[in-house]
Amino acid sequence: MNASMSLPVWSDDLLLDDDRTDATHREFMQLLRSSFMATESNRLERFQKLLAHTVAHFAQEDRWMVATGMDDENCHSNDHAMILETMHEVEKRALAGDTSFIPVMNQALAEWFPEHAKTKDAGLTQYLKDVGFCTTTELLAHPETAPLNPHGGCGTQKACV
Ligand SMILES: [Fe+2]
Ligand SMILES: [Fe+2]
Repeated sequence: MNASMSLPVWSDDLLLDDDRTDATHREFMQLLRSSFMATESNRLERFQKLLAHTVAHFAQEDRWMVATGMDDENCHSNDHAMILETMHEVEKRALAGDTSFIPVMNQALAEWFPEHAKTKDAGLTQYLKDVGFCTTTELLAHPETAPLNPHGGCGTQKACV
């Protein structure tokens, strides 16, 4: 970590009133912080823990979107795919011996995540409430009448602008 980077910290501003999402986001921030604080000897290992968590975190949200009628390629899922592609590339370079991209990726994630959580993830959690989808059971309260997203997009027009 160099002097221009500030440690990412959890803020209750990031709470989205969905217990499972909030727990996942807290874990993400803890792992990101841990990756920021890594030394050369554990830099790759900590980044890989963050990457594994991020794969599961994004897969969870992508699964909920598809379960409630969104296209599997929508603007929110595309954001996830772009971030994961970059993280996998950073991991690949680190496995080949160059870990210098990890701190850069960590800093980019620290800047990207709050905006993503407050727009795309906030839009998703509100949409899931609106259609009666429980993120704990991953079931719709009323599957026969749920007003599933007819346009297939990310579910909230506001989150896509
Ligand atoms: Fe998220
Ligand atoms: Fe997301």
